[in-house]
Amino acid sequence: MMQTSTSRHFFEDFPPPDDLKHTIRDAEAFVKLNSVKNKNVVLITSGGTAVPMESRTVRFIDNFSTGTRGAASTEYFLAAGYAVIFLHRARSAKPFVRHFPEEKLLDLFVLKEAEGNDTSASAITVKQDESTRLARVLRSYHSASSTNSLLSIPFFSLQDYLYFLKSISDVLGQLRQKSMFLLAAAVSDFYIPSDEMPEHKMQSSEGPPEVRLSSVPKMLPVLIHRWAPEAFIISFKLETDPKLLLLKARKALDTYQHEVVVANILEERRKKVVVITADSETQLEISEEQRGSGQELEDILVQDLVAKHEAFIQSAAGR
Ligand code: PMT
Repeated sequence: MMQTSTSRHFFEDFPPPDDLKHTIRDAEAFVKLNSVKNKNVVLITSGGTAVPMESRTVRFIDNFSTGTRGAASTEYFLAAGYAVIFLHRARSAKPFVRHFPEEKLLDLFVLKEAEGNDTSASAITVKQDESTRLARVLRSYHSASSTNSLLSIPFFSLQDYLYFLKSISDVLGQLRQKSMFLLAAAVSDFYIPSDEMPEHKMQSSEGPPEVRLSSVPKMLPVLIHRWAPEAFIISFKLETDPKLLLLKARKALDTYQHEVVVANILEERRKKVVVITADSETQLEISEEQRGSGQELEDILVQDLVAKHEAFIQSAAGR
């Protein structure tokens, strides 16, 4: 049987992450610095949330999300002049470094040994055919870091994610219409309440455990109506059944009354999304050929969202 709780109960049930105060201070400084520069700031959430099965967590329930949507979108928002808070699942895809997968990293370089035994004199260079790509990524990375336009905050568990989301929303919401939320993380709908979670590692000698999951309260309405009521908010709707997708995405928009829902089907998510607003429905798509030549769906998605955000800011200014 499933139980539900309110967002307040959920937070009361779990302690905040150790580094929460420090993270809030970083977020405040980042938002202040970038608002002085008159920049729009977007919070991008990315990757899956881990649901612990023990308080001293050995095992956890996880999901499919790789974090690619969030990491790629971060790069395109930076290129569009936004400052980005990248709230991401630890060890999921990250902007810039995602272009160089760990297992192939060393293939980027050539080692030229010096004459004799002097290893300190050996030279390392980047392979000729990789240097253009590496230079392009390095340029964007240096531009983001030298202008303090990117703040990266990792999380692991569902609980930590929600604490960070709430605290950052309180800070970012102060920018009102100039703040944007791109909620691309795949957030668990279920968790184990603290009083039903064993402290220590579950013992296999005791046989298969009976695990009772409770529903995670929906945080989206709380974010939209309480934490950041004037921000431009984009949620995602993921389904595996195409017949349900648009109905459920539209229903989310009608229910929560925020700005945009981006609808996607699990297997097609790299090729196609539908961007839904109160009065529009736009399918964005890239072909296999475009993907093969290095283009990404997030490029056109971010362009579309930036235009919608601009219109939102203009309309608020005209009121
Ligand atoms: O990471 P990738 O591999 O690149 O994949 C990208 C993606 C498929 C994860 C991404 O495009 C996406 O769709 N992310 C949202 C997935 C999801 O959680 O969808 P949902 O339909 O289960 O939830 C809908 C919305 O409710 C989400 O915006 C979520 O933030 C919100 N939610 C979910 C749970 C919860 N307890 N409270 C919430 O508010």
